[in-house]
Amino acid sequence: MSVSVKSFFLLFLLVLVQPSTSISFGPDARVTVIVENELQGGQDLLMHCVSADNDLGVKLIHPNTSYHWKFHINVFGKTLYHCSFQWAFVLHKFVIYETSRDHSLCHICSWVVKEDGPCLVFDEKSDCYTWNSLEERYIPFLF
Ligand SMILES: *[C@@H]1O[C@H](CO)[C@@H](O)[C@H](O)[C@H]1NC(C)=O
Repeated sequence: MSVSVKSFFLLFLLVLVQPSTSISFGPDARVTVIVENELQGGQDLLMHCVSADNDLGVKLIHPNTSYHWKFHINVFGKTLYHCSFQWAFVLHKFVIYETSRDHSLCHICSWVVKEDGPCLVFDEKSDCYTWNSLEERYIPFLF
């Protein structure tokens, strides 16, 4: 083999053994979810998100600030994060991430929480959803 054929072969081998994790949106994709508190009147937001294998715990999000977390999804599988949002004695529930709904929309999924529901924010627009359910809570800060 000539030198150039050898080096071509070597390069080919190197490409072959590259870990697939360098592909950012392959079957195993990394997702970041960002949730910002945009409630009116400077209200604090309490958020509690859980998936089948992860419980983020209760997070306190101050006005105009955000909380984010990262996880891996398999786009052929099913990743679901259910969240409860609480302020002013009312608990609001929303599925903040669902592979089938979101994997084609975002892998940095940036949400702003407003009174009427959460909005998924893109470069130039936002998609607002309504709450999945509401529940009166007479004992504040208990999920
Ligand atoms: C949050 O941002 C809004 C819009 O920019 C502003 O009107 C409001 O005063 C801010 N609230 C706080 C508590 O900083």
